[in-house]
Amino acid sequence: MATIEKNPDDKNTCKNAEALKLTNDPVKCGFSGIEKAILACKKCPLHETVTNKVIGKGSTAPKVLFVGEAPGKTEDEKGIPFCGRAGKELDKMLEYMALSAEDWAVINTLKCRPPGNRNPTKPELESCKPFLLAQIELLDPKVIILLGNTAERAFCPGRKLEWGIPENFDGRIVLKLYHPAALIYTRLREEVQKEMIDQNRGLWE
Ligand code: URA
Repeated sequence: MATIEKNPDDKNTCKNAEALKLTNDPVKCGFSGIEKAILACKKCPLHETVTNKVIGKGSTAPKVLFVGEAPGKTEDEKGIPFCGRAGKELDKMLEYMALSAEDWAVINTLKCRPPGNRNPTKPELESCKPFLLAQIELLDPKVIILLGNTAERAFCPGRKLEWGIPENFDGRIVLKLYHPAALIYTRLREEVQKEMIDQNRGLWE
C-alpha cells in the first residue's frame, strides 16, 4: 500500500492508533500516526466496503499539495491514489506544471472508496476532514490545489472559490483547478486548465 513515506525528522511519532485516540491530536502523531489512525478508522460506514484505504503519495515536504476527491476502483484495489485513468491525467498536469518528484504530493478528501464511485456525502467528508487537515498541517505545502468541487466542499464548506484564482487561507495559497477526471473527454476544459496553470506558475516556480 502506498503512503506518503515517514519523514525521518518526524520525531514526535505516536506508537499506535490508540495513542492517537489518547492525544486526540493527529498532527502530534506524525505521518505514521496519521496512517495508523486512518487504517483503524471506523467513523463512517465506508470502512465496511473498502478494500484498501488510500493515504497519499508524493513528497513529504511538497511545495504543492493536490487534494483529490476519493479513491476510485483501481485506487481501492491498489491502495494508491490516482493510479488509474485520472492518475494518467494528473501525470500530464504535473508535467505541464513542470513539477519534479520532490515538489508535489497528492491526497484525497476521503481515504475510502464510496461504493460505485458515487459522490462523497457530507457526513463522510466531515468524518474524514480531521485526517485531511492533519495531512495538510504535516505536509505543510505552500500551495494547495483543490481538484474540483468536492475537494472545495471538504476543505472550505460553504465557500465558492473562482476557478484558477488563488486565495489565501491562513497563510497558505489555495487554488481550485479542474479535477483530472473532468479533463478526460473534454478538450476545451484541458485548454482552460492549461491557461489557469499558466496564469499561476509564479506560485510554485
Ligand atoms: N479520483 C480522485 O479524486 N482520487 C483518486 O485517488 C482517484 C481518482
